[in-house]
Amino acid sequence: MDNRTVRIAVFASGKGSNFKAILEKFKHHAQIQVALLICDQKGALCLDIARESNVPSFVFSDSVFKTKWEASIEQDVLSVLREHNINFLVLAGFMRVLKSAILSAYPDKIINIHPSLLPSFKGLHAIRQAYEYGVKITGCTVHLVNEEIDGGRILGQSPVLISEGDSLEVVERKVHEAEHLLFSKTIETYITEISNKDMVNA
Ligand code: GRF
Repeated sequence: MDNRTVRIAVFASGKGSNFKAILEKFKHHAQIQVALLICDQKGALCLDIARESNVPSFVFSDSVFKTKWEASIEQDVLSVLREHNINFLVLAGFMRVLKSAILSAYPDKIINIHPSLLPSFKGLHAIRQAYEYGVKITGCTVHLVNEEIDGGRILGQSPVLISEGDSLEVVERKVHEAEHLLFSKTIETYITEISNKDMVNA
């Protein structure tokens, strides 16, 4: 790896199917390396995936808050990110909102996947919200992370058609398949774009 390699930390809370797709995509990549998994749930399946792939992982649970980390935990997370020379964060099914300490350490360098076509159906249970609303097209969105939940600049979107008779489970499967393709492709495009810009401005 040369010193232009971008070292990604993936943040995940659960199953880790997006994490797995990202690992697969960047396994032999010349410029991008998945260097770390940060998880907030002991026993989450994404930790098994990290172990099988020899990616170091750290769990930061928080017994006080469910939807964010208290400030001292964010500081501990930042220390681990610095120790591992992480220059880019990817939120792949991470169920806590990051606060100012981490956001300001990685400006325009945190991206998230959301399972709807933003700005529609922000927040939790987006696939179910779209399904129950009766939309005929839903999808997924990759976007930059800022203080506004699901509100940062959109980097990529992929539509998913809901056909007559599709069950919620079928729609979930279609959205996840779309996510697995869109996320890693968008990560690659965006990192390449900002790395080239950094080199031009250096
Ligand atoms: C994905 O649908 C993602 O959009 C949402 O949580 C889900 C995570 O799935 N935020 P997985 O853990 O990557 O399988």
